[in-house]
Amino acid sequence: MKIIVCESYEELSRKAADIFVKQLQNKPKSVLGLATGGTQLGMYQELVDRYNAGEVDFSEAISFNLDEYCQIKQDHPQSYYTYMNENLFSKVKFKEFHLPKGDADDLNAAAVEYEKAIEAAGGIDLQYMGIGVNGHIGFNEPSDVYMLDSNLTELAEATIKANSRYFSENEQQPTTALTMGMGTIFRAKSLVMLVSGKSKAEVAKKLFDDKIYTDIPATLLKLHNDFTVLIDKDAAEG
Ligand code: PGA
Repeated sequence: MKIIVCESYEELSRKAADIFVKQLQNKPKSVLGLATGGTQLGMYQELVDRYNAGEVDFSEAISFNLDEYCQIKQDHPQSYYTYMNENLFSKVKFKEFHLPKGDADDLNAAAVEYEKAIEAAGGIDLQYMGIGVNGHIGFNEPSDVYMLDSNLTELAEATIKANSRYFSENEQQPTTALTMGMGTIFRAKSLVMLVSGKSKAEVAKKLFDDKIYTDIPATLLKLHNDFTVLIDKDAAEG
């Protein structure tokens, strides 16, 4: 596990984009695992800027997002599909991009299909992710039992609360989602986690020690042999 402490969120975003660009330079046909959330926004802006400057080409790359809400349609303003379109896919051209179909009629079947699509693409080369205040990765919430493959899951109270800032008061906020499983994430060749802000300081401490906390899913990633954490000072020193 490699921890890189950055002076600022801007530096973290630049370093995250550097890793992305290097991956594509080494392997233009990379399969990238992508994430949503506030923390990833700076990296996406960096990537768009570098694309516009002709410094990076995504045209042979395929991407799979970690998760997607259920109970809302794909074109809902708060869907992760909309987030990805607004922040990346409407601005740069990927060969293909995929998100779980959170509005499918048969959600369990959609999860199985998603896992198969990742496998058919050859597996994920580089997986980005954030971390929840409760240590979730994707929507693998703290639990006694973790699912290996992509699955339909319920969001934890802490997650619903943290994400409520994006939904207006009279809007129904989703409580379920499709997410990659812990195995899906573990099978990626390289993992990069972005951690920013004081709200993550408490959970970040648990990433730095030599323990695995079974109720903090992110700490299980310490077992992965290519796991990098990019963390800003606010989160590292909180
Ligand atoms: P955030 O979300 O970047 O909006 O904090 C991270 C996560 O929940 O994984």
